[in-house]
Amino acid sequence: MLRLYFFISLMCLVKSDTDETCPSFTRLSFHSAVVGTGLNVKLMLYTRRYWTCAQVINSTVLGNLNVTKKTTFIIHGFRPTGSVPVWMEDLIQGLLDVEDMNVVVVDWNRGATTVIYNHASSKTRKVAIVLKGFIDQMLVQGASLDNIYMIGVSLGAHIAGFVGKMYNGQLGRITGLDPAGPLFNGRPPEDRLDPGDAQFVDVIHSDIDALGYKEPLGNIDFYPNGGLDQPGCPKTILGGLRYFKCDHQRSVYLYLSSLRENCFITAYPCDSYRDYRNGKCINCGIPQKESCPLLGYYADNWKEYLKQKDPPMTKAFFDTAEEEPYCIYHYFVDIITWNKSIRRGSITIKLRDRDGNITESKINQ
Ligand SMILES: *[C@@H]1O[C@H](CO)[C@@H](O)[C@H](O)[C@H]1NC(C)=O
Ligand SMILES: *[C@@H]1O[C@H](CO)[C@@H](O)[C@H](O)[C@H]1NC(C)=O
Ligand SMILES: *[C@@H]1O[C@H](CO)[C@@H](O)[C@H](O)[C@H]1NC(C)=O
Ligand SMILES: *[C@@H]1O[C@H](CO)[C@@H](O)[C@H](O)[C@H]1NC(C)=O
Repeated sequence: MLRLYFFISLMCLVKSDTDETCPSFTRLSFHSAVVGTGLNVKLMLYTRRYWTCAQVINSTVLGNLNVTKKTTFIIHGFRPTGSVPVWMEDLIQGLLDVEDMNVVVVDWNRGATTVIYNHASSKTRKVAIVLKGFIDQMLVQGASLDNIYMIGVSLGAHIAGFVGKMYNGQLGRITGLDPAGPLFNGRPPEDRLDPGDAQFVDVIHSDIDALGYKEPLGNIDFYPNGGLDQPGCPKTILGGLRYFKCDHQRSVYLYLSSLRENCFITAYPCDSYRDYRNGKCINCGIPQKESCPLLGYYADNWKEYLKQKDPPMTKAFFDTAEEEPYCIYHYFVDIITWNKSIRRGSITIKLRDRDGNITESKINQ
């Protein structure tokens, strides 16, 4: 009898394991996109302990979210076909790989899925309000705004900005991955992502002539390959669906590469891509005593330096390869950290060579 009971409980466990305890991102059909979807925001928590199995949480049930740790929200954008973002899994795993944190996937696929971009765009402020309600509860439970990080892709970048504005720029950090351009280009700061929306805002622009936002929106704005056409992306419509999204999506893949050990992308602060290509900005770091920021997750290592500027905005350029690993080394070595000690009158630079070995060198002024 006990054994039977045990067996039944085990069956229930197995069943709930696949049915309920591991929820997944909302998958919709193209039919849903054609008829349109009403907004529903689902929050899914991933942690190192529950690495592959998400937990649905909301403002009343914070689940296994540990408020003393950093919390990273991933916010996707417009979903014209209702599919699951192909990069989502890699981004969750990559973040958990580099740091023990809470990763919260903001699944607003119901709302973002529509063939009409304006309909998705009109829901961005509503998503931000839901997130505000959730974060307010995190704060009640003892979380700190300093520890909140939002990664917003396309429309998601502006959603992150709207959340940040509601906290008067006190969120720890926002990363905008090719923030949406259409309907946002040229709008005033209150209607889009802005450098004042968090303590540090970093942005990657990879499709400024189509789906992305052209002008700088953060404390640092990275323009891979000038921000226009990305190498390896189809140049004509013959490339099919990839023609439309490849440049835009590249921002996400470049960010992902920063979570892997084998490829750190150094960017060069410069006024324009033309100047960068003409070699006017390639020496950043050593003679000009300027920093050479890294793209992606570790961009905030340069936060203090970048925020000292007036206005606190820097454009940075670099070129990439067509595919992974995207990094290209300009020299035999690349600068990975830059550290100036005013007291000792020296600069310490860490260099990484082609083999990936890191050496430190000190320059006395
Ligand atoms: C939060 O989730 C719990 C359990 O899944 C559910 O009972 C509750 O109604 C939800 N609350 C809100 C505000 O959605
Ligand atoms: C929450 O995180 C802190 C800091 O990492 C840790 O000391 C604590 O044990 C964690 N709490 C739980 C319930 O896991
Ligand atoms: C710069 O140097 C200080 C003191 O040596 C150290 O604490 C800090 O981590 C360094 N920063 C970087 C980016 O290497
Ligand atoms: C650099 O790395 C290579 C392979 O990763 C290794 O064989 C070599 O000994 C390293 N060189 C130094 C100076 O550490």
